[in-house]
Amino acid sequence: MSILAVYGSPRRLGNTSLLLKKAVEGARDAGAEVEEIVLRDLMMTPCLEIYGCKKDGRCVIQDDFQRVYDQLLACRGLMLASPIFFYTVSAHTKILMDRCQSLWVKKHWIEKVPLGHRDFTRKGLFIAAGATEGKKLFDGALLTVRYFFNVLDMELWRTLLYRGLDYEGDVLEHPQYFEEAYEAGRDMGDR
Ligand SMILES: Cc1cc2nc3c(=O)[nH]c(=O)nc-3n(C[C@H](O)[C@H](O)[C@H](O)COP(=O)(O)O)c2cc1C
Repeated sequence: MSILAVYGSPRRLGNTSLLLKKAVEGARDAGAEVEEIVLRDLMMTPCLEIYGCKKDGRCVIQDDFQRVYDQLLACRGLMLASPIFFYTVSAHTKILMDRCQSLWVKKHWIEKVPLGHRDFTRKGLFIAAGATEGKKLFDGALLTVRYFFNVLDMELWRTLLYRGLDYEGDVLEHPQYFEEAYEAGRDMGDR
């Protein structure tokens, strides 16, 4: 089983993308197989709230989410990177999360797992960057990500949250952040 790395920034070489690349490198160096998904390259419509997924827990909208759904179910760990946009994750990331309502339906409506039941079988790493310095900068995103990971039976295992990064490449001024990303990736890759 491999690790899935999801790039949620619209910038290919933005701050969170560069950090996630480093985490991927760490995981691969630890011997893990890593599959990478760049959300901006996928055709993924937002959730239409038609609940076609009620039948078998699979979203009925036929687009690139179908493949991502299988990857999300199969991976042993997820590395998710997103910029902070208006105090939460990017729209690309949020669309993926909302499409995973099909997994919520599978778990709680079809398989009847009680709400609030926690059985974490997998690890989730969340990487985020924001331009400002506020204390609450990551609060909104963390609530969203934790709940999303829960649906995937993943604990929010580690977070790498960086303030004061705005322009593309600002993160390059902080070699320590890359070391932290590499270590997190290596730890996740190392079983
Ligand atoms: C649409 C949009 C909304 C943003 N909202 C916030 C915000 O609420 N708080 C903040 O500190 N930075 C905000 N930013 C700045 C980004 O979080 C920052 O530039 C970040 O480093 C981008 O990461 P990336 O290079 O990985 O895309 C926003 C940027 C955009 C384009």
